[in-house]
Amino acid sequence: MSENTAAKNFIKAGVIGYPVKHSLSPVIHSHWIDKHGLEGSYEHIEIAPDDFDQVITKFKNEKSFDGFNVTLPYKQRIMDFCDELDKTAQHIGAVNTVSFKDGLMIGSNTDAFGFTENLKSFLPDFNFAKAPALVLGAGGAARAIVYGLRDSGVSEIYIANRTAEKSEILADDFGNAECKCHVAAWNERSNFAQRCGLIVNTTSLGMTGKPALDFDVDALADDACVYDIVYTPLYTQILQDAKARNLDIITGIGMLLHQARPAFKSWFGVMPDVDDALVSKIMPDA
Ligand code: ATR
Repeated sequence: MSENTAAKNFIKAGVIGYPVKHSLSPVIHSHWIDKHGLEGSYEHIEIAPDDFDQVITKFKNEKSFDGFNVTLPYKQRIMDFCDELDKTAQHIGAVNTVSFKDGLMIGSNTDAFGFTENLKSFLPDFNFAKAPALVLGAGGAARAIVYGLRDSGVSEIYIANRTAEKSEILADDFGNAECKCHVAAWNERSNFAQRCGLIVNTTSLGMTGKPALDFDVDALADDACVYDIVYTPLYTQILQDAKARNLDIITGIGMLLHQARPAFKSWFGVMPDVDDALVSKIMPDA
């Protein structure tokens, strides 16, 4: 245990991953630590895959951290070490936040919260129940998003993914009587979108260095909303096209910022806000 952790009230947190140096989480949490005048730290914790089991066991035994976030590729692997998983982590099948309570290591998942809170911060009156949603992609992010949509009252979700088998698994895992989940053909994505009130890109398409997302916004309803979780660039082509059509758009950086809030609260006891100063630190050119 470091000298720092020995000091009373000093909270030590971080983000584990491999690689992890690119993660913006230390900027986010350090901003809130300063803003709320708290004693604590948040650091990058890079763990090579071969060292993972040993390092996490050591963290657990020695209480090296008060909690940590988990990013790729460990969001599933960490689950084996958790003594308890909250309901959201169980449903999504991944953990992005670990905290310790009464000596137990608790795994939770705040990605769905981050996704929906970001949407609500742009459109506080958004009616999730109004129309079906179309989710593009069926990877890890899509699982959290489909869960978040279902939890927010969306009654019908179309899932379009290049690999159809993955859409089928997602639809099977999350579809129920209140929220029907259907597989939509990837090549027909723009056609399916016509009947939807919310279109969400969860694929990596459109990200800097990746191929573009080919999507036709022309047929979307006038009150449709387009949400892209890609945030490099902030205004992806699909968002630019939707904006040109005067549709509501939601940029992706807020999902990263909002998912961090409940994690911070679980360690520091304060629910922080996403303020302009934080957005400027993360996206100086936005
Ligand atoms: P994440 O955890 O960010 O969701 P992921 O699990 O690797 O990352 O998922 C990436 C998503 O982007 C998947 O839906 C993937 O489609 P496949 O399941 O068919 O791989 C999608 N994706 C990535 N590159 C793509 C491409 N060139 N065309 C279409 N979809 C792509």
